Amino acid sequence: MTAALHVVILAAGKGTRMRSALPKVLQPLGGRPMLSHVLERARLLSPARISVVIGHQADRVRASVAADDLRFVEQAEQKGTGHAVSLALAGQEPAGRVLVLYGDVPLIPPEDLEACLQASADLVVLGAEVADPRGYGRLVEHPPGHLERIVEERDADTAQQRIRRINTGILSAPAAHLKRWLAQGEAEADRRAGEWYLTDVVAAARAEGRPVALAISATPEAVLGVNDRLQLAGQERLFQRGQAERCLRAGLALTDPGRFDLRGQLHFGEDCLVDLNVILEGTVRLGDRVRIGPGCRLRDVVVEDDAQIDAYSVLESCVVGPGCRVGPFARLRPGAQLEAGAAVGNFVEMKNATLGPGAKANHLTYLGDAEVGPRANIGAGTITCNYDGANKHRTRIGADAFIGSNSALVAPVTVGDGATIGAGTVLTRDAPSGVLTFSRPPQQTRSDWERPRRTARRPADDPGDPESSPPGTDSGTDL
Ligand code: UD1
Ligand code: CA
Repeated sequence: MTAALHVVILAAGKGTRMRSALPKVLQPLGGRPMLSHVLERARLLSPARISVVIGHQADRVRASVAADDLRFVEQAEQKGTGHAVSLALAGQEPAGRVLVLYGDVPLIPPEDLEACLQASADLVVLGAEVADPRGYGRLVEHPPGHLERIVEERDADTAQQRIRRINTGILSAPAAHLKRWLAQGEAEADRRAGEWYLTDVVAAARAEGRPVALAISATPEAVLGVNDRLQLAGQERLFQRGQAERCLRAGLALTDPGRFDLRGQLHFGEDCLVDLNVILEGTVRLGDRVRIGPGCRLRDVVVEDDAQIDAYSVLESCVVGPGCRVGPFARLRPGAQLEAGAAVGNFVEMKNATLGPGAKANHLTYLGDAEVGPRANIGAGTITCNYDGANKHRTRIGADAFIGSNSALVAPVTVGDGATIGAGTVLTRDAPSGVLTFSRPPQQTRSDWERPRRTARRPADDPGDPESSPPGTDSGTDL
């Protein structure tokens, strides 16, 4: 059966209620477009064909999910879900079964899709029972358990509005039947002079006496469509909760699964701990016994065994070697590399720079385009002046070098092995190995100098006077 499956994904809408320049189906969920989650689930079914109906910002949607196994169908004007599906079926051999998915129902569980495909009826509709059915099409059952038709909210009378079983939009049917039922829906839309509803196929199937089955999802929260940012935030939490649970089951310690965000792939070893409010993006690899402190963000990072990333550190495209310590409040930018046992402390920034084994930069430092040798000690406030306003230059610091606090290393420059640089040096030429180099203006003391004295002020000059403060400004959306 699967061999002849044609999955049709509806993704042509704008998503007005998102109030965004980005098409709704490209809004990120777990760090990637909502539509890519739908595609992932469609592919699990190994269908013969996947058609994606695009319209609003079609080129952008196509470009962001393009793949060899996808067929894109343009729906220039969004005349309704029925129109969208009929375009996807036009010109296709009416064989096998069609499964319709929605680009704005991203977390549809694979079990629900299986249920849609396994039921023996001609038409299978996936429904859900919800506490608040507002905004969704209602399932009209007659007798109970037998789906008679679907009524859109705007067409529902008061009694129908009270129905709590709603249409998820997802359905499956043999291609040949679906084409015919859709055509009847078009006539219906013309008669109403309105939108062409996919949901009208239910009444069409019943009118032909064809068996119609209703599958009710066991996880209603996962099959609800995303129309606004509140619903998107709800789906994001659901997705992240699922990922946190998978990580916990696989042996990752999370202080609070409700405060963990993984927007990509995570690989981890034994006894790793991720503290509160950590965000992991791209591909993150943690060795054994790695600890990530609260509030850290890591994107495309490798952290090796026994390394520790302390609170509020931000790391991107870098490698932290075994036993290293980073943070709190450290920033490792692309190309930062810490070798075994190196340490980077608070308010240290590194970019395209290597810290050799056991080297330390513990406080308030910028290391850019630099190589630091084994066991070197970089004093507080050291800056590699790597940029001359036009080009970047490298700084090389040898093994066991000691850079005194508040030194400016004006690249290109080399500090030899075992060299000592005196505090406050502005180093513009290479510093030889094994000796002290420093530049420092002579210290002066003046005993004839007096501190300036404050002159008497009028009260209106006092900056603390509320009368003289500028009024606050206001802007943004009114609620
Ligand atoms: C639809 C269903 C409703 C169901 C709800 C579930 C219809 C008529 N109604 O309503 O019964 O409860 O989904 O979420 O089907 N789209 C196109 N082309 C179009 C119109 C829509 O591709 O011409 C796409 C949209 O991009 C979206 C999906 O189809 O991904 C659903 O469209 P939307 O307008 O959100 O339908 P709802 O009003 O939510
Ligand atoms: Ca919708």
